[in-house]
Formats: sequence, structure tokens, C-alpha cells
Amino acid sequence: MADTVVLTVPAFSTLCNEAFKLRRAVFIVEQKVPSDEEFDAFDLTAHHVVAIADGEVCGTLRIIHAEEHVKIGRVAVGNTWRGHGVASAMMTYAMNEHRSVRENRFYLTAQSDKIALYERFGFVAFGDEFPDGGMPHLAMKNY
Ligand SMILES: CC(C)(COP(=O)(O)OP(=O)(O)OC[C@H]1O[C@@H](n2cnc3c(N)ncnc32)[C@H](O)[C@@H]1OP(=O)(O)O)[C@@H](O)C(=O)NCCC(=O)NCCS
Repeated sequence: MADTVVLTVPAFSTLCNEAFKLRRAVFIVEQKVPSDEEFDAFDLTAHHVVAIADGEVCGTLRIIHAEEHVKIGRVAVGNTWRGHGVASAMMTYAMNEHRSVRENRFYLTAQSDKIALYERFGFVAFGDEFPDGGMPHLAMKNY
């Protein structure tokens, strides 16, 4: 696979808009998440991370500095880029960049069939399964 570059981009910059386009394709079109749930007010203040390979945005996630932890969300990789470590590269980058913000306390909610991805980064699922965007989810944290 081509070298992947991971970086943080300002909201509504050209690269961020490409990331939003990817989120729309992955979550709204592919996974049928209702469009009014996918984008929200957190997008205005979140830190948006993109992965670029072969000159295109192939992955994205967003980071929110909540009061008690750093929340990682909206992890998406374009379907032709999957299985090559793009999501893992973005997770490594995001946790390294934001580790000091809440003393290495990270939180996310994962689609239940994807928890193995986050377990690799020290996350452990807790609590009951709950629906979100029409899919079963589990809360996970690394602390
Ligand atoms: C889930 C997703 C982000 C993974 O991206 P990726 O770049 O392919 O992930 P990586 O190559 O870094 O995978 C690392 C590990 O995560 C786990 N993983 C990745 N995709 C998975 C999937 N679809 N189901 C279950 N586990 C998965 C595996 O353990 C994998 O390790 P392996 O390749 O040795 O088996 C991508 O498939 C995607 O965008 N899917 C649609 C949107 C989505 O489900 N987002 C996550 C919401 S929680």
C-alpha cells in the first residue's frame, strides 16, 4: 500500500470537507446511519484527523476533549483502503497527539463487531450494548 500520511486539519478546510464526504459515504450511504445523526455541533469544535494515501483522503476520525476524557469517534476508512492499517495509523496518531490532554484517559463508543480494533490500543468494553445509528454499540475506555 502507498505510504499513508496522518494529520490534523481545520474544520471546513478542503481536506476536512473531503473527510466529511468520506463520512457521508461510509456512515450514511454504506451503514445507513440517519443523515441528521451523522453530523452534529461537535464537528464545529472537534479536532479532525485525516489519513491521506495516493493523494486522496482515505480515512478520518474526530477527537473531542470532554471533561473527563478524550473522546475518539467517527472512525471511517474508505472501502477500497480497508485492511491495510489506516485506522490503526490514525488511532496511534490521535492517542499520541492527545495523550497529555486528559492524562491518557480515552473513551469511545464502538460498533460491537469492531471492538477488536480498539482493544489493540488498550480499550476495554464496559456496560450494556446500546443502539446508535441503527447498530449495536459498546462503550470502551482505556482507563
Ligand atoms: C472499521 C474500520 C474503521 C477499520 O479500518 P481499517 O483501516 O481497515 O483497520 P485496520 O487495517 O487498522 O485494522 C486493524 C484491526 O482492526 C480490526 N478490524 C478492522 N476492521 C474490522 C472489521 N470490519 N470488523 C472487525 N474488526 C475489524 C482487526 O482486528 C484488524 O486487525 P487485522 O487486520 O490484523 O485483522 C473500517 O473497516 C471502516 O471504516 N468501516 C466502516 C465504518 C466503521 O465501521 N467504523 C468504525 C465504527 S466503530
